[in-house]
Amino acid sequence: MKRWQRALQDNYGTPTIELVSGKGSVVKDSNGNTYLDFLAGIATNVLGHAHPAVVKAVTKQIATLGHVSNFYAHPNVLELAEKLQKMTGDKSARVFFCNSGAEANEAALKLSRKTGKYKIVATNESFHGRTMGALSLTGQPSKRNPFKPLLKGIKHVPFGDSSAMKRAITKKTAMVIVEPIMGEAGVIVPPSDYLKNLRKYCDDNGALLVIDCVQTGMGRTGDWFGYEYSGIKPDVITLAKGLGGGLPLGAMIALGSASTLFAAGDHGSTFGGNPVATAAGEDSQAC
Ligand SMILES: Cc1ncc(COP(=O)(O)O)c(C=O)c1O
Repeated sequence: MKRWQRALQDNYGTPTIELVSGKGSVVKDSNGNTYLDFLAGIATNVLGHAHPAVVKAVTKQIATLGHVSNFYAHPNVLELAEKLQKMTGDKSARVFFCNSGAEANEAALKLSRKTGKYKIVATNESFHGRTMGALSLTGQPSKRNPFKPLLKGIKHVPFGDSSAMKRAITKKTAMVIVEPIMGEAGVIVPPSDYLKNLRKYCDDNGALLVIDCVQTGMGRTGDWFGYEYSGIKPDVITLAKGLGGGLPLGAMIALGSASTLFAAGDHGSTFGGNPVATAAGEDSQAC
């Protein structure tokens, strides 16, 4: 703990347990204690620790070609994008890869600006990440207040309240962002018609419907994406956490007319779609 305090910033507080290895759902600390891991890297290690397929894919890739940048294509990035496209069930889906959930939501935020509008509706108590744009979407005052002023034009309404959403969404709304099931706020499932109503209000007003599946994606609700229970199709899906099988990997998937809003030069990430991270992502899906 003393070493942590001397070398690291205080943003996480000081952890009291140091983990050194893991296998499946069990982790071991530096004192030799074993634990059944219910945290799973905060909803991330969907295949457990040291899954043989992920270990094999990552080891092979890092020994072959560890990084290429986005000046070049790579088979893994293409294969994983095609897999994700297939999983959406929509051939129009186009993928942007990044490294985290906050970055996926930042990308969605930027994409929505390409509609020519800037107003956004999000929900109270939501969590969309901690970078300044993602924090502006996040609906938790304790996380937002120390960092004001945040982005302008973002209105927060109670989660699960279709009437409040209907009142908030106007022709000036660029995007609406919701978690299909609230994660950090507690596992809160909205009324069964909520996402269907949001789909209609967005269609009526020409707003993008962005579904943050960072925590509820990659099979964690039984479907690939956490919104599938509703039967709707979003304009944008954001993913991270379980996507990379334990490696840093995020994605912003845009569908339909939203999929062509970004033009060359509009957005980017040095590590986004990195061959090793996408190798891990690809093998995680296969499992
Ligand atoms: C729903 C949701 N969106 C976004 C994020 C941010 O993801 P990251 O911590 O990878 O930036 C999280 C993280 O907990 C999340 O639960």
